[in-house]
Amino acid sequence: MTVIAIDGPAGAGKSSIARALAHRLGFEFLDTGAMYRAIALAALERGIDIEDADALTALVDDVEIDLQGDVVTLDGRDVSKVIRGPDVTAAVSKVAAVKGVRRAMAAMQRTRADAGNVVIEGRDIGSAVVPAADLKIFLTASKEERARRRARQLGLATDEESLGELARTIEDRDRADAEREVSPFVMANDAVEVDSTGKDIDTIVDEIARAARGVIDER
Ligand code: CDP
Repeated sequence: MTVIAIDGPAGAGKSSIARALAHRLGFEFLDTGAMYRAIALAALERGIDIEDADALTALVDDVEIDLQGDVVTLDGRDVSKVIRGPDVTAAVSKVAAVKGVRRAMAAMQRTRADAGNVVIEGRDIGSAVVPAADLKIFLTASKEERARRRARQLGLATDEESLGELARTIEDRDRADAEREVSPFVMANDAVEVDSTGKDIDTIVDEIARAARGVIDER
């Protein structure tokens, strides 16, 4: 089994790149952020206080999350779109900071990593979930570019003021992820840093696919 971990901050292009890379290599693709988003959605829908760690920990045993490619289901319902909405985005970092939530999600993620060749995208895959991953990429981009990409992806305004505001909310979330106690967002020591600023997706996928083939050939 080959595991490729792609970690990085919000808007660095992780999802697009991880998906395209998985397709190129014939691997599965696992978006771990979508799992945390689905739990955050379940909490919001059930009126659970996102500050209540015990209630959130109990919630993970009470819901069924499944991910197949880009389709995310929560108790059998397709929530792929709604988990990208602003309410979930505003709540997700709080939910993802809860130890019991992370433990359950990481266990699901490791099961997937053990099951086959997979590209796993997230914040702590190379540093904590699958530290033995065959290739670890830490994908970054400038603050401005990350805000621009996110605005385009969500169909938001791209004037300077709106982009500045979006950049601030992205930075706040990255800071919350980096400052949490459990499995904080950090670059693994042995990760390869790839800066996607000003490069198109194909160029980066080519670059990572070359590195991945090198790793696969070595095995
Ligand atoms: O797409 P974007 O980069 O905005 O975020 P995402 O990958 O969907 O992740 C949403 C949130 O889930 C992050 O801000 C983290 O709080 C959390 N997350 C995490 O804690 N660990 C992961 N492996 C993946 C996501």
